[in-house]
Amino acid sequence: MINIPKGTKDVLPSQSHKWQHVEQTARDVAKLYNLKEIRTPVFEHTELFRRGVGETTDVVNKEMYTFLDKGGRSVTLKPEGTAGAARLFIENGLSSSPMPLKAFYLTPCFRYERPQAGRLREFHQFGIEVFGSKEPETDAEVISAANALLKKLGITGCELQINSIGCPICRAEYNKALKEYFRPHLKNMCQTCNTRFEQNPLRMLDCKEEECKKITANAPEILDYLCPDCKDHFKKVQNLLTAQGVKYVINPNIVRGLDYYTRTVFEFVSTSIGAQGTVCGGGRYDNLISELGGAPTPAVGFAAGLERLLIVMENTGATIPEEQKPLIYLAGMDENSRKKAVELAANLRANGINAEVDLMSRSVKAQFKYADKIGAKFVAAIGETELANGEVSLKNMSTGESSAVKFGGLCAYLQKV
Ligand code: HAM
Repeated sequence: MINIPKGTKDVLPSQSHKWQHVEQTARDVAKLYNLKEIRTPVFEHTELFRRGVGETTDVVNKEMYTFLDKGGRSVTLKPEGTAGAARLFIENGLSSSPMPLKAFYLTPCFRYERPQAGRLREFHQFGIEVFGSKEPETDAEVISAANALLKKLGITGCELQINSIGCPICRAEYNKALKEYFRPHLKNMCQTCNTRFEQNPLRMLDCKEEECKKITANAPEILDYLCPDCKDHFKKVQNLLTAQGVKYVINPNIVRGLDYYTRTVFEFVSTSIGAQGTVCGGGRYDNLISELGGAPTPAVGFAAGLERLLIVMENTGATIPEEQKPLIYLAGMDENSRKKAVELAANLRANGINAEVDLMSRSVKAQFKYADKIGAKFVAAIGETELANGEVSLKNMSTGESSAVKFGGLCAYLQKV
């Protein structure tokens, strides 16, 4: 027996309707916000993520599924959707399309992390990316789309936390202040923090080591270092969220685990799933497109983890529509009536009715038992008498009532119930 790889999950027939519900809801939200679907390959050149996501991130340093293909090229299974979306935007010349360009995706992602509840090595994201606008209205619209998704899924108890991590101008000042603060503590901090001190001190705030966390708790806060433009942008985003009735709290500790962010960053955090409580995260990334070789194009987006959405929905009792059950099971008693059952089922299906027939050569009694197990709403019994009369004996499985319905009238009857 070969088992499933660690950190991955099967979706079983009895569970897939939940996934379909979340995916369909995401598509519905995308439609409301007029976002168009994009699809990018599951693997990209490794360089895209190194440059896009950033050399100092855990994602790039520790978590990528990177390998050489048979042609000796280094490729990586996508750890997230934004870098691929940015590449798609540049490579296909989409900067010449009407701006803003509003896109969404549903995609598997791969990160070599230590698996735990809500943290997998293969997981799935619904993400949106809006290219071409630097305006705070765009940040607010993207956040409001994430908020709408959670609301439509019936998720409660999620807190929207927002922050601004400034632009390269204020970041330079802030990095200086961080270095001054961290320098005397370096000997008590982990190796990774010591490396990050030189390369990207902001990333030190993201360290999960207990000792480092104690030190970073008193570090200077970015909000005190924002330049006037960034401050103004952040204030406008807040006002626009309030205008839309989207509740938020400011959390100056959100720095996000990916290097491309500028200005607004945000997370929706649930208290119901423990350590991996972030169901959705995103922000503005005004320099990514130019860093990847495109014309300077501001952008903002987010991604939500579908597995985490499903966990939160189950933990908080959100309504998940039941899986689809057959409307009718057609049970034939002998060869001729079985043939009739097949013929009727084909006609019903052609008219959009979900119908089942026996595929196991079962006795009529066993067919009824099976129809009950799979939750068929009606069972149509067909035997010699029914064939002679041109009708089925139709039983409503929940009320137990039976009635005779003509073969020719069955479809219309079922379309009315
Ligand atoms: P991220 O915060 O790395 O952001 O991931 C977004 C979401 O993906 C998380 O909030 C979480 O729900 C889910 N997720 C991440 N890692 C795992 C994992 N190992 N297992 C299960 N779920 C996971 C991004 O990926 C950015 N690309 C978001 C973005 C889009 N920013 C701008 N545009």
